[in-house]
Amino acid sequence: MTHSTIILAAGKGTRTKTKTPKVLLEICGYTLIQRVINTALELNPDEIVIVLKHEADEIREHIEKTFSKNPNIKKIKFAIQSDIPGTAEAVKNGLSELQPDAENILVLSGDVPLISKETIQNLFDINYSPVKLLTTNYDNPFGYGRVLRENNVADKPVPVKIVEQKDATPDQLKIKEINTGIYVFNKDFLKENLENIDTNNSQGELYLTDLIELAYQNNSPAEILNLESNKSYEVEGVNDLVQLANLSKIRQIQINEMHMRCGVLITDQTRTYIEEDVQIGADTKILPDCYIMKNNKIGSNSMIGPMSYIRPNNIIGDNAKIGAYVEVKSIELGDGSKVPHLSYVGDATIGENTNIGAASIFANYDGVNKHHTTVGSNVRIGSDTVIIAPSVIEDNVYSGAGTVIKGEVPKNSLVISENRMKIKENWTKENR
Ligand code: UD1
Ligand code: CA
Repeated sequence: MTHSTIILAAGKGTRTKTKTPKVLLEICGYTLIQRVINTALELNPDEIVIVLKHEADEIREHIEKTFSKNPNIKKIKFAIQSDIPGTAEAVKNGLSELQPDAENILVLSGDVPLISKETIQNLFDINYSPVKLLTTNYDNPFGYGRVLRENNVADKPVPVKIVEQKDATPDQLKIKEINTGIYVFNKDFLKENLENIDTNNSQGELYLTDLIELAYQNNSPAEILNLESNKSYEVEGVNDLVQLANLSKIRQIQINEMHMRCGVLITDQTRTYIEEDVQIGADTKILPDCYIMKNNKIGSNSMIGPMSYIRPNNIIGDNAKIGAYVEVKSIELGDGSKVPHLSYVGDATIGENTNIGAASIFANYDGVNKHHTTVGSNVRIGSDTVIIAPSVIEDNVYSGAGTVIKGEVPKNSLVISENRMKIKENWTKENR
């Protein structure tokens, strides 16, 4: 079944109190909006319209950059919301960008990041109705729209309407079933009924949720899919930074478990931070307090940490080691090579079975540009070596402790800096 998707992301997001637009906040290396678009694309829609307003240019640029290499980028379109506030207005503005023959319309929120493809597929699959609504039950439903159902039908009471937190009576606030903000609409129903919504509510906005009451009044009440409580994190919204942190934790556990199921030895799963897009081979050990950012590839039977900072774009081989207090960025580290202690290695290619001595620094930045360093195989870099990029150190080189290397060092050589130890004997207080 073909469908079109509208993603709502025009809200101001004042509750996060951040300068960064809410949908550009990250969970494990992906922005909220990137996550929602990824999931929307997995369902293979004909098109996706993202409705923006506040910080529209910044958000649009981010999306265009993030998906620039994705062949589906041509499916992504943008709409700018008018000055009228509310989720109904946002959908109306999104609709105007859709192909005229769009039939089923999936509406997602840019701030509900962990929704899965399976749940949305299940929503598509329920009985035909002009409105399909995804709900769930929360013990603490604060902030969400509450779903009011008919109270005289025993079997399957249909939804009568949704009341927002700010408009609800004390009795309605006790309802635990909440609106997730995820719907599938028939387009004709949507077009017709969006015109019948008013701003007669405490926020003076056009609420999309009013469509549930309109559907009930039209004798075609919404069909509900109630998501089971063990999956209800999927529909939690990010309205503030506490919710962002809670969802990050949930996603981090999923990522760590995925690696463990592939044979990665994670010593303490609560103290291991691994972003999306990281490949790790089996038998590799990740010791506590490491931060592994996105786009990294780590081989098998290697060791990372404790306390290492793996920034993006590294390719680390098999049987390799990145030890304690080591930061790496954009490096290739060959099989069997080690950076065991207290070092920074950035923008470098290192061969096989090479050891970078403790506290060595690859000085890759001259204040204006970054430069690359190449180190061969079977090299022994002594402790406290500074390698100023661009440098090339060929195979089998030894460097003395405290050497400053700049330029080329030919293979099979020893490199040392003239920085000899001198001793002055009988050095007493009086000489100082
Ligand atoms: C909304 C629902 C609420 C539901 C909750 C689920 C309405 C009126 N309320 O409330 O029933 O429980 O989501 O998370 O729909 N947006 C726009 N334009 C606007 C306003 C909002 O595009 O004018 C976007 C926001 O950027 C956001 C989404 O719509 O991505 C939801 O808006 P938000 O203000 O967060 O609504 P909630 O109060 O969470
Ligand atoms: Ca929200």
